[in-house]
Amino acid sequence: MWSFILLFVLSLIAYFVTDNLIPRVGKLCINAGLYGVDLCKTNKNKIPEGTGVVSGCLCLVTNFLFIPIIFGSGLMDTQQFPHNEFAELLAGLLCICCMLLLGFADDVLDLRWRYKVLLPTIATLPLLVVYYVNFNSTTFLVPIPLRHWFGVSIDIGWLYYFYMTVLAVFSSNAINILAGINGLEVGQSVVIALSIILFNVIELGSDQYKAHSFSLHIMIPYLATTLALLKHNWYPSKVFVGDTFCYYSGMTFAVVAILGHFSKTLGLFLLPQIINCVYSVPQLLHIFPCPRHRLPKYSAETDLLYASRTIITKKDMKNSTKFVLNFLTAFHLIDKIEDDECITVNNLTLINFFLIKLGPKSELKLTSTLLLFQVLCSSMAFLIRYPMASYFYDA
Ligand code: UD1
Ligand code: MG
Repeated sequence: MWSFILLFVLSLIAYFVTDNLIPRVGKLCINAGLYGVDLCKTNKNKIPEGTGVVSGCLCLVTNFLFIPIIFGSGLMDTQQFPHNEFAELLAGLLCICCMLLLGFADDVLDLRWRYKVLLPTIATLPLLVVYYVNFNSTTFLVPIPLRHWFGVSIDIGWLYYFYMTVLAVFSSNAINILAGINGLEVGQSVVIALSIILFNVIELGSDQYKAHSFSLHIMIPYLATTLALLKHNWYPSKVFVGDTFCYYSGMTFAVVAILGHFSKTLGLFLLPQIINCVYSVPQLLHIFPCPRHRLPKYSAETDLLYASRTIITKKDMKNSTKFVLNFLTAFHLIDKIEDDECITVNNLTLINFFLIKLGPKSELKLTSTLLLFQVLCSSMAFLIRYPMASYFYDA
C-alpha cells in the first residue's frame, strides 16, 4: 500500500515536471530544426516535433527512482532478493527505452518502414528471454465452445514467442498509423492506459495480483506523464508528440501485457488500432497507392476536415488492386469516384472512414468522436472480459 502512495506522489511530481519541461524542450527542438507544420490549419507556424521524448524520459526516470522503493526490503536481505522480478522490470524498461530511442531516431531521420518493423522485433528480445526464464508458459486456455475439438488447453510452444513478438511490433506501430489530427495519438493512449489501470486494479484481488501490481508500477507514471503531454498536444496543438511517443507508448502497453499475462485483454483494448491496421493493409502493402500523409484534408473555407484521397490509374491497375477495390466497394467500405482514366478512393484509415460515413467534421469534433469510439471499445472489452467471460471460460 505504501509503495502505491509513494508511486502516486512521484507520478504527480513527474506530471508537473513534464508539463513544465515540454514548452522549454519544444523551443530547443525548433532551434535544432526538429519541427513540423500543422497540415490541418491555415497558419504555417513551426510546431516542435518529437516532444514525446520528454514524457517518455520522465516516465522512465520515475520508474528508476521507484526501483529502491519496490525492491528496498530485498536489498537488506540479499538471500531473499527477488532476482526474477527484478530482471522482469529491467527487461521491460530496456524494451521501452529502446523504443524511445528508435522513435526519436525516426523523428530525426525519417526511417524506412522495414526498420520500423525490424527494430521493435530486436527490442523485444530481452523481454522474451525473461519470459522464457521466468514463466515459459506457452499454453492457451481453449474457450468452452471449442473444447470439444481442441481440448481444455493447447500448448503452442515457440509460436507463443512469435505471437508475443508480433504483439510488440504491432502495438509499437499501431498508434503511429492512427494519427495526424491534434490530440489523437496521445488521447487514444490515455484511454488505453486508463483501461489497463482499471483492469489491473480489479485484478489486484486475484491470485495474479503480483503481475497486475507490476503493470501498475509502470502504467501509473506512464499515465501521469502522458496526461501532461496531452495538455500541450490537445487541439490546437502547441507541440507534436512525434513517432517517439507512438513507439514508446505501444511498447509500454506490450511490455505490461506480456509480463502481466493479459495480452488477449490488451488486444481487446486495441480494437480501434486493429481495425485501422486491417483497413490500412491495402495501402501498407502498396496494393493501393500510399501517399506520405494519409491524414484528412483541411478546407480553410469551411474550417472542416474531409477524407483525403488517393488516385488509382485504370491503365496499369493490377488484378490484386481490382479484387480489393471490388471487395471494399461491395461492403460499402470506401468512397469511390470514377472517371475514364482513374479512380479516386479515400485513404484507408479509420479517421477517413469516420469522415466518409459521418460527413465532414471540425478537427476537435473528429478527435473527440474517435476517442469516444476508443472508450466504447474499452467498455466492450470489459463486458467481454467480465459478464460474458463465463460463457467462454470456467469462472
Ligand atoms: C503516419 C501515417 C501518415 C500520417 C502521419 C500523421 C501511415 C502509414 N502513416 O506517418 O499517413 O499522415 O502519421 O502523423 O499511416 N501532423 C499534423 N497534425 C497532427 C499530427 C501530425 O498536421 O496533429 C503532421 C505534421 O505535419 C507532422 C507530421 O504529421 O510534422 C508528422 O508525421 P509523421 O509522424 O512523421 O508521419 P508518420 O508517422 O511517418
Ligand atoms: Mg508518426
